[in-house]
Amino acid sequence: MQPGTIIENTNLKGGYYRIRFFHPDIAATAVGGQFVHVKINNLEAHLLRRPFSIHNTDKNDNSVTVVYKVVGEGTLAMSQLKAGDSCDLLGPLGVGYTQIADDTIPVFVAGGYGSAAMYLTAKNAKQKGVLMLGARTEADVILNDAYEALGYDSRIATNDGSLGKKGFVTELLDDVLKDYAGKKLMFCACGPHPMLIALSKLLQDKKLAGEISLDSWMCCGVGSCFGCVVKVNADNEQHWRYARSCKDGPVFNVNDIYVGE
Ligand SMILES: Cc1cc2nc3c(=O)[nH]c(=O)nc-3n(C[C@H](O)[C@H](O)[C@H](O)COP(=O)(O)OP(=O)(O)OC[C@H]3O[C@@H](n4cnc5c(N)ncnc54)[C@H](O)[C@@H]3O)c2cc1C
Ligand code: FES
Repeated sequence: MQPGTIIENTNLKGGYYRIRFFHPDIAATAVGGQFVHVKINNLEAHLLRRPFSIHNTDKNDNSVTVVYKVVGEGTLAMSQLKAGDSCDLLGPLGVGYTQIADDTIPVFVAGGYGSAAMYLTAKNAKQKGVLMLGARTEADVILNDAYEALGYDSRIATNDGSLGKKGFVTELLDDVLKDYAGKKLMFCACGPHPMLIALSKLLQDKKLAGEISLDSWMCCGVGSCFGCVVKVNADNEQHWRYARSCKDGPVFNVNDIYVGE
């Protein structure tokens, strides 16, 4: 474990912030979909670490970037940190996305901070494919411009219709499948649990390849407390078993996601 000195901590949009840490070890080894467990140093000492997906790394300046939304005490305290402050960073933790094969077109399906969590994988993919981005409203649509700058075809759905198509992000799927018919596709997803279950069901039914990041409440972050379990498919009577999101995931093959009976 090494402290991460903050290089910058700036507002991205509305309640979303981008924080960049100097951390050579994590910058050298992290893959997209992994996370860091952050001890926010201006919070009371007894409070738990907070998990954040690694948004980006840069081996040239040894930086690790996280994009976060202020939702409570920890993230509020984090938003008040300044360049030169530091936090303890544990990571990179968990299983990330598999590197996208050169002959495959990636399709990233994101909700909430999901677009931040998949950016590194999107950046490292040889072929730039599609971003399907869903949000409640325009204020929660983030990083579509960053994906577009990489060359991604970004498609947006908002529940209230304030940006893009009105509806759920999964409603964008049929058009994507039509537009990319005959291509070898790989779906990667991160977002709210109900969205991921709905998407997993669609991908399983259509026999499409995919990897899904199932984020859960976390305590230790390293596999020892079982506080973060999620249901995955199993060859037993009930057809599911628990897996640890922090250690066995957070990224799982779509065929392992338990979508219910
Ligand atoms: C693997 C993983 C990766 C994550 N990556 C990111 C990221 O890249 N960017 C980002 O903004 N957030 C991310 N999160 C969520 C982030 O960890 C929480 O938002 C954060 O811990 C909240 O801390 P807090 O003290 O501000 O809020 P708290 O005061 O602890 O909680 C405030 C509110 O947030 C909700 N909440 C807190 N933690 C979670 C959680 N794990 N899942 C669902 N709801 C939660 C609570 O229900 C509560 O309503 C990730 C979570 C996991 C498990
Ligand atoms: S958070 Fe402790 S096992 Fe996952």
